[in-house]
This record gives sequence, C-alpha cells and structure tokens, in this order.
Amino acid sequence: MILGIETSCDDTSVALVDAQGWVHALVSQSQDLLHSQFGGVVPEIAYRNHSLALLPLIDQVLQSRSLSWSAVEGISVTTRPGLLGSLMVGSVVAQTLGMAQKIEVVGVNHLLGHVAAPFLKDAQHKPTFSVEEEHLCLAVSGGHSSLYRVQGLQRVQILATTPDDAAGECLDKFAKMLGLGFPGGPQVDRLAQTGNSRRFQFMDHIPNSLSFSGLKSAAQRRLAGLSIPESDLPDWCASFQEQLVDILLSHLKIWQRQTGLRRVTLTGGVSANSRLRQKVAQWAGENSLELLVTPKIYCTDNAAMIALAGLLLKEKSSLDCSSSSLPGDFV
Ligand code: KG4
Ligand code: ZN
Repeated sequence: MILGIETSCDDTSVALVDAQGWVHALVSQSQDLLHSQFGGVVPEIAYRNHSLALLPLIDQVLQSRSLSWSAVEGISVTTRPGLLGSLMVGSVVAQTLGMAQKIEVVGVNHLLGHVAAPFLKDAQHKPTFSVEEEHLCLAVSGGHSSLYRVQGLQRVQILATTPDDAAGECLDKFAKMLGLGFPGGPQVDRLAQTGNSRRFQFMDHIPNSLSFSGLKSAAQRRLAGLSIPESDLPDWCASFQEQLVDILLSHLKIWQRQTGLRRVTLTGGVSANSRLRQKVAQWAGENSLELLVTPKIYCTDNAAMIALAGLLLKEKSSLDCSSSSLPGDFV
C-alpha cells in the first residue's frame, strides 16, 4: 500500500493505493470557500490550511481502512510544480513520517500524477490499456494544458504545451468576468448545459499553439462595459466553452494525425468538463481510437494519482526537493 499526499495548490488530499493501482481510500479537503472571496488562490492561506488539515486527513485515511503504519510500504508526495509553501507542507510531512516510520518516500512531479490518473482502478473504472502502452495524453488543468507522448511514466515526451494561459485558468478568468465565483470551470460547465453555443463568437480562428490568452482577451473585450442579464449567462458560457473545447480538440486531432497513435487519454481538472468529454469521445469513436477518460473524481487534484505515479516511478526513488532532475521528469 502506498500513501499519496497532494498539497501543491489549494486541495489537501491523501490516498491509499495498492501495487496494482487500486484505490483503497481517497480523502480531499477543498479550500475553495476560503479562496473564493479573493477570486483566486491566496498562497499564504493555502499553505496555512494544508498544515492544519494534512495530519488529521492522514489519520482519517488510515483509520477508514483500519490500517496501521506497518501496512504502508511507501509515501508518494508531490514535490513540484506548485505553490512553494504548499509543496513544502506536503514534502516536510512526508519526509518526517518517512523517517519516523522508516518508509521510503518518493517525490513526484504533479503533472506525472495527472498522466497516471486515467490508470487508477476502482469498482467503477478499469483502464482498457496500460500506461506502458504508447499513447497520446491530453492533460488540461488550471495551471497546464499539454499534449504528451507517453510510453510509461519514465518516458513522457512533451509534444505541445501552452505558451501562455492554461485552459483552466482561462475558464476561471472568464467565470470571474461574469461574476460566477471561483473556481469557475464547473460553473461554466453547469450553465452551458442549457445555453446556445453558437450565439457569441469570440475568435475567428483556432490559434496555432495550445494558447488560451487570445480567447481570454477576446472575452474581456466583448464583455467590457456590458451588464449581462442572468438569462443570458447560459449562452455566454456555452459559446465560450465551445470555443475553448474546439482549441483543445483541434490540437489533439493534429497531434494524433502527426504521431499516428491510436490510444488516447484525457486527464486534468478541465477534463471533468462534460462538453470536452463528449466531443473527444465522439471524435475517438468516429476514428476507432482507444480512448481512456479519467473518472471525474480523479480529474481535479487528488492524492490517488500521486500515489500511483509514485508507484510507477518507485524504482528510481528518493526525495530531493532541491534536485533539478527528479525521477520521472519529462524527456
Ligand atoms: O487539475 P486541477 O485540479 O488543478 C491544477 O493542476 O491546475 O484543475 C483545476 C482546474 C480549474 O481551472 C477548474 O476551473 C477546472 O479545473 N475544472 C473544470 C471543471 N472542473 C474543474 N473546468 C471545466 N469544467 C469542469 N467541469
Ligand atoms: Zn493538477
């Protein structure tokens, strides 16, 4: 059993995952309410609350499975990228517990956690291929939007990545412009369900890279000085979401054609978006591609994906927060 710890941003999360990738426990504490009044994550508030929440969550997870420390063979913790103070809370707790309990500690790159997430197993989700089988991974979150060629977690090649804003950041800013609260992605998704996605046009072309700053600025220009009636919110959200999904899908299509890869995974917080899931599934179906979509509970930041990533990287382990070449870095 591996204990996973994730504290890279504003979610405190702890999980137990076994050597086959089965999730035995996952408990997360969101800080959304604390940050929403500021319209975004405040680093100082985030790390102070991680330091309050983490140890009780670890106890809770072990107790939920009636396990003692003797059942835990390793600790896997996010060591980068993320907010420095938040990362330090997780790393220091993991290192201290590792020393006290004489358990190996593996430092994990958060993005590799997202790459591993589709391969977690539970009663509702059994992956149809393994992480070692070569595949194309679209990882979209609040901080990152990237396409990877994956041949196991030790061999993850960056094919394309955003030169500016990530898709989630763009969604969150758009939601903020409409006064929808933080994080905005789920609100936009919910309102878009009943909206007309063709009503508003933000951009007249798909950007050449996985760039979302153009879409964000276009929305800023269109919304400047407008007071949007509540009844129009669904149409604004559906139109904006459609164009954001189209950028992601068009780059996914380009890289699938270029690499010829027939297996595809979809992961990261934004991959919880219902329209993105629907359009990617439709495209994969039409092209007979093998698609593995991350279950919604493992899309946003969680410790189960960090535990699995640690397991998959374990052979090259040891935690070194200062090293510039952690195991499982990108090639
Ligand atoms: O992976 P994640 O939890 O954190 C990072 O690693 O950044 O992703 C958070 C992002 C936020 O921008 C949030 O608005 C977005 O994921 N998100 C969604 C949905 N659920 C979360 N975006 C669109 N639709 C959703 N249903
Ligand atoms: Zn993340």
